[in-house]
Amino acid sequence: MVDFEKIKEKCERYNQTQLLSYYNTLSENEKNNLLQEIDETDFSCLENLKNKGTPSSASKKYSPLKAMELEEIQLNKGKFEKTGLDAIKEGKVAAVLLAGGMGTRLGSDNPKGMYDIGITKPKYIFECLINNLMDVTNKAEKKIHLFVMTSDKNHEKTVAFFNEHNFFGYDRNFVHFFKQEMAAATDYDGKILLEQKGKLATSPNGNGGWFSSLKKAGLLDLIHSEKIEWLNVFAVDNVLQKIADPVFVGATIEKKCTVGSKVVKKAFPDEKVGVMCLENDHPSIVEYYELTDEMKNAKDTNGNPAYNFGVILNYLFNISELEKTAGSLPLHIVEKKIPHIDESGCLIKPEKPNGYKFETLILDQIYKMTSCLPFEVVREKEFAPIKNATGVDSVESARELLKKNGVEL
Ligand code: UTP
Repeated sequence: MVDFEKIKEKCERYNQTQLLSYYNTLSENEKNNLLQEIDETDFSCLENLKNKGTPSSASKKYSPLKAMELEEIQLNKGKFEKTGLDAIKEGKVAAVLLAGGMGTRLGSDNPKGMYDIGITKPKYIFECLINNLMDVTNKAEKKIHLFVMTSDKNHEKTVAFFNEHNFFGYDRNFVHFFKQEMAAATDYDGKILLEQKGKLATSPNGNGGWFSSLKKAGLLDLIHSEKIEWLNVFAVDNVLQKIADPVFVGATIEKKCTVGSKVVKKAFPDEKVGVMCLENDHPSIVEYYELTDEMKNAKDTNGNPAYNFGVILNYLFNISELEKTAGSLPLHIVEKKIPHIDESGCLIKPEKPNGYKFETLILDQIYKMTSCLPFEVVREKEFAPIKNATGVDSVESARELLKKNGVEL
C-alpha cells in the first residue's frame, strides 16, 4: 500500500493538493487506487507549463528538402512497385495504425475508427482502412502484420468492435493491439483535473509514444522474429490512404532513405499543415505557424515554392534505424476539452477546450532519422481526413472524396 504522507508531500511539492480533496469520502479500495495513481504519475511534465509560449532558444536553421514529385514517381512506377511488392512478399513490411487518440473534434464517444460514414449502408472508418490494406495484401498475395495502437480510453471498445465485425475480413492472427501510455491533464492554471473523486483526468500521451509502447508491449520480439524491416505508420482518420503502398515502399527502398513520408502539394500558401524541410540539416517538419514570409516566398530551381509539401501522417520507418534513434521526444502542450468533475463532484463534459494535455508527436521522430523521402501523392486520391463532424476535413468532405474514388457508401 502506498503511504498517504508520501503522496501528500508529492502533491504539496507540485502544488496539486486538490487531487486529495475527496480523499476522505472514498472507500479503502478507492483510496489505494488514487494514491497509487498519483504515485505512478509523472508530475515533472508540469514544469513545462512554466515555459509555455516562450520560443525555444535553440536556433533552428531551415532549408528546403526536395520531394519526389508525381512526374518522377510515374516515370519509375513499375520499378518502385516491383521493389515494394518484393519486400511485402518477403514479409519485410508491416503496418501500424495509430488509433489511440481521443478524436475530441469529431465529438463521438466511441473510438474514431468505429464511426459509421456510410449513407445507404454501414461503412466504418476501420472497415475503410482494412479494405485499403487488403487491396495491397490481395495484390501481393501476402498478409502483413497490422499493429493497432489504442489507449486506456478506447482499447476494450476497439478490440470488441474488430471481433464483432470479424476483423472486416482480415486474418485476425495478423492483427495485434497494444495500448499507449496516458498522461495527466490540467486546467489552465496547471492544476491536474479529477475525472472521478478518486481518479485523475488523464488522456493519451500523444502519437509520438507509439514505438516505445509497441516495444513495451513486447511486439518488437515479433517484429524481429518475423524479420520485418519496415513499418508503415498511419493515422486512423484518413479513409482514402493507401496502406503499405508498394510504390511508396519501393521508392523509399530504392532511394536508400530510412524514412519515407507521404506528402501532398499545399492547397494554398497559408494552409495549416506541417511542411517537410531540413532543420539544421536533419529531415524535419516545420509547423505552419513557424513558416516565415521568406520561407513562404522561397522558390526551388524550377520556380515552384520551395516549402510546398505538407505531411499527411503516413510514414514508412526503417526499424533498425528507429531502434538506434529511439529515445525521448520533445513534449508539446496542447489545449483540449478535458472531462472532469467540478467542486460538487458532478461530471462536466466541456464544449470547448478547458485545459492542457501533454503529448509527444510522431513528427518529431522524423528529425531523428538520417534521411527522409517526401513522396508526393494526389490529394484527391489519397487524403480524406476526418477530423470534424462538419466543414473542413469532416465526415461530409471525406464522403465526397470517397464517392469520387468509387467507394460505395
Ligand atoms: P489527432 O492529432 O487528430 O488527435 O491524431 P486526436 O486525439 O485523434 O483528435 P482530436 O485532436 O482530439 O480531435 C492524429 C492521429 O494520431 C492518433 C490519432 O488516433 C490519429 O490517428 N493519436 C493521437 C494517437 O494514436 N494517440 C494520441 O495520443 C493522439
